[in-house]
Amino acid sequence: MKILVTGGLGYIGAHTSVLLIEQGHQVIILDNLENSSLRVLDGIASITNQRPLFYQTDLRDRKAVVEIFNKHTDIDGVIHFAAYKAVGESVEQPLKYYDNNINGLIALLECLIPQEIPLIFSSSCTVYGQADRMPIDETSPMKKAASPYGYTKQIGENIIQDCALANSSFKAILLRYFNPIGAHATAQIGETPNGEPQNLIPYLTQAVAGKRTELRIFGDDYDTPDGTCIRDYIHVMDLAAAHLESLLYLHEGKNSSACECFNVGTGKGNSVLEVVKTFEKSTQKKVPYSIVARRPGDIVQAYADTHKIEKAMGWKAQYSLAEALQSAWKWEVHSAHLEAQ
Ligand code: NAD
Ligand code: UFG
Repeated sequence: MKILVTGGLGYIGAHTSVLLIEQGHQVIILDNLENSSLRVLDGIASITNQRPLFYQTDLRDRKAVVEIFNKHTDIDGVIHFAAYKAVGESVEQPLKYYDNNINGLIALLECLIPQEIPLIFSSSCTVYGQADRMPIDETSPMKKAASPYGYTKQIGENIIQDCALANSSFKAILLRYFNPIGAHATAQIGETPNGEPQNLIPYLTQAVAGKRTELRIFGDDYDTPDGTCIRDYIHVMDLAAAHLESLLYLHEGKNSSACECFNVGTGKGNSVLEVVKTFEKSTQKKVPYSIVARRPGDIVQAYADTHKIEKAMGWKAQYSLAEALQSAWKWEVHSAHLEAQ
């Protein structure tokens, strides 16, 4: 298949692009490099021995996007990663998020729908908010979004569903990721947060590497077995595989409706302290940490019921938490070398 990957030089997009290329598919990457760099393209090329065609284009530049689709009239599918994703920033700058995440999606849909190109959309478990029941299955209602970022994912899903209703030949899959972590086994690509990391794993690895004084664990007085919050941490290569399976699923016409949503997680919840202990055991590195106050807006627990995607596509997460954490550590060490160059 010939696949256009928007945001293909970002964290999840790069890992997915590698997997697609390794599986013999042709990848075209569109990215404006706002949260990535050409070094990632080098990483993809070094892993796969192929340099995918790359367009440094902003998705909101409709003319440029139309030109790409006019040039490539045989695209079999689009995976749409390009968006802003920082929850806190979205609270401070909501318009920035509504503009990019919604207008980018609309610009893309305007090209996809007339050409009947199927779409895989990056959604998030954030659309559920604090669900009433664990594990969370896809019938769990969308609660009021906790941030403008979360709201852009809810709106994005609604826009795509409406387009599928209005255009019988347009097909889409909404993938609701739980917490993606880890890096490619070669450590040639990984997660590179700008500035101070907001997410647990990059903060943890940077604390172990001595770039941060210590990991601050946000609260140990939650109603969980050890008092710290619980999440479903999924290896980014497992997540990449879910995208490939989704493309094949649509390509082979196995979908039961024009637009379906699927959770992508491991089905297992781990607390922050369990993550720390697993990291220490699997890397033999001590994590410097202290317990601090709760982080405003954090939900207590979120982990996926993954039966729907397992049954529909035969996809199941393969990597353990320990393997994902080891790969994150390997990437932390390797990326320090890259930075030093
Ligand atoms: P990322 O920031 O690493 O990657 C996004 C990429 O898109 C970047 O390379 C950026 O330069 C590019 N981009 C952004 N706006 C663009 C635009 N207008 N035009 C062209 N390129 C643009 O993020 P990620 O972690 O890889 O996330 C990918 C997708 O998955 C996002 O939609 C995100 O909301 C979603 N998601 C991420 C997580 C997570 O924890 N990482 C969880 C759930 C959902
Ligand atoms: N945590 C710490 N210390 C830190 C960072 C995080 O204790 O320095 C804790 C948090 O309190 C939380 C857990 O680690 O309990 C996970 O936090 P992350 O920030 O890594 O992840 P979140 O679950 O809060 O959110 C992430 C993304 C969202 C996305 C969501 C679901 O940031 O964009 O996963 O995919 F929507």
